[in-house]
Parts: sequence; structure tokens; C-alpha cells
Amino acid sequence: MAQIKTIGILTSGGDAPGMNAAIRAVTRSAIFSGFKVKAIYRGYRGLITDEIIEFKTQNVSNIVQQGGTILKTARCKEFTTPEGRQQAYDVMRKHGIDALVVIGGDGSLSGARVFANEYDVPIVGLPGTIDNDLYGTDHTIGYDTALNTIMWCVDRIRDTATSHERLFFIEVMGRNAGFLALNGAIASGAEAAIIPEISTEVDQLADLIKNGFRKSKNSSIVLVAESPITGGAMGLAERVRTEYPNYDVRVTILGHLQRGGSPTAQDRILASRMGAAAIDALLEGQRNVMIGDSNDEIVYVPFTKAVRKNKPIDPSLLETLRRLSI
Ligand code: F6P
Repeated sequence: MAQIKTIGILTSGGDAPGMNAAIRAVTRSAIFSGFKVKAIYRGYRGLITDEIIEFKTQNVSNIVQQGGTILKTARCKEFTTPEGRQQAYDVMRKHGIDALVVIGGDGSLSGARVFANEYDVPIVGLPGTIDNDLYGTDHTIGYDTALNTIMWCVDRIRDTATSHERLFFIEVMGRNAGFLALNGAIASGAEAAIIPEISTEVDQLADLIKNGFRKSKNSSIVLVAESPITGGAMGLAERVRTEYPNYDVRVTILGHLQRGGSPTAQDRILASRMGAAAIDALLEGQRNVMIGDSNDEIVYVPFTKAVRKNKPIDPSLLETLRRLSI
């Protein structure tokens, strides 16, 4: 393998709190180990359109606490085409970039996998997404902050839900995964979570109503994972209005609120450890792996495994939620 001298770094897909801490850790660890760092703006798009500058240690000063990504991000259609990837490769070579660190979610790492196979480029991925849906890592960067934001919001909604004795469906992000909904529900003391992982198996709404949730209480909060499978909070509220008209139902969609804000200590530490580990991985000759954390240890997860669509939900969490909401 050719010796790596210059490492390119980019963030791609939906931003996540802690991405800046990861950019800082990658940049400083790379410089510490004698590499040059090239910062690529706007994800894969910037690799195609040549938005690249060299980063020194001071370029990443004072960012560990900032949400979003100083490198900007994009979802880039051109990179899904062979022509787009050829252009990206040419720009990479022009800048003398020998290896890439890609910080992003499922789509970004899938793109990295294709690119790495096509052009034999060493790439290391960092799991940057609030969804926590990447296989092989217990946590993704941004997930803990988003969970805390959800908890903060639900605490406030509970005040009005209790005052009016209402049923609230609160929709949270997660794309096709229910981690934010399920753990957000446990953290905020919600009565239930409706998640795509089990929605096809049972009618979760009918179950909730049948089991008489909220009979002894004067408000109900149900976290709903955004997904066509769950029907979303709007869909469920519509069903309640027609099928169970006795409930006074309201909907809150938390939306992009969940992606912003200063990262929690946990996300900053995770991002810092993973960023440093990305450089260790390249030094060890690793390529086409995502850095993961498993039982608090850093692990290397091959891209093919990381982007598998079936990261499992721990069923004991559902049972805990059920037990604690009686
Ligand atoms: O993957 C992160 C995420 O926030 C998902 O939870 C959500 O479905 C999606 O991105 C929203 O994407 P956008 O900001 O492009 O609308």
C-alpha cells in the first residue's frame, strides 16, 4: 500500500452534535502523527467541486462545544454516479489526498464503501448520526445529545399534557430506526414508544388502548418514531380521532430541533476517542472500516457490516418501558 502522507476529512449527510469534536480529534491526531490534513467542505459535493483547504491545529480551535459541522454537510446525488465519483477521485489526487476520514451516517458510509472499492482509496468512517442506526457500534456520535434534547422537550410537553389531561403523540427522528423513540421514552417517563422495529408485527396503538393506558392517570405521552411503518404521530392521531374519539389528542413533531445544540459530554468524549482512533486505524493499515464502540472499547467494523439495515433494538428496553408505565 502506498504510504499515506495527506488525509482528507469530510462530514456528510445529516449533521449531528459532536461532529465538530470529531473533526478536531481527527485533525489534531493526524497532525500529531505527522500527516497533513485537507478539509473538504460540503461533504462529497465539495470533493467533486473542489472546496478543499489545508487544516492546521488552529483551524479546529474552539469548536469542541459547537453543534453542527464547521465543514458544512450535504446529501450529494452526483456522488452516487460513476461520473461524480471519477471527478471526486481526480480532485482528491490533485490535492495529494491519499486517504479519507468520512464522518456521517448510513448513506455516507455506503458511498464511502463504493468509492473505496472503485478507486482503492483507504477510507475510515466515523458514525456521525443522531439515529444510532449503524450496526457494530453501541453509540453513534450525536445520538446522546439528541436523546437529551428529546427528554428536555418531553419534560415541557408533559406540563401542558397533564394540565389539560390530554394524550400527546410526540414524533421523533430516527429515519427507519426506533432508538431515539424507545430510549427517549424511557428517559422522559413516557407511557409508550411506537417504533418501526415492531410495528409490522402488532397493532401497537390498538394494544395501548386495549391495555387501558392512562386509565389511572390524567395525561399520556407516547413517543412515535418517524416512519411510514409507524404511521407517524399525525397518522396515529388521525386513527385515535376516528377509532377512539374519547381521547383528547394532540401532536408535536420535534423535527430538526433534535439535530442542533451543543454536544453532551458523552458525545464529545465519544467523538474525540473515535477521531483519534480513525488515525490509529490508518496507521495500522486499516481501510474501509467504521470506528465503533462496543462495551466501551473501540472496534473496527467493516463498512459492509456497518451499513446493514438491521441493527437490533434491545427487546428488554421495551419490557422496561412497559413495566415502568403502569
Ligand atoms: O439521519 C439523520 C436524520 O435527522 C433522520 O433522523 C431524518 O429522517 C433525516 O436525517 C432528515 O433529513 P433532512 O434534514 O435532510 O430532512
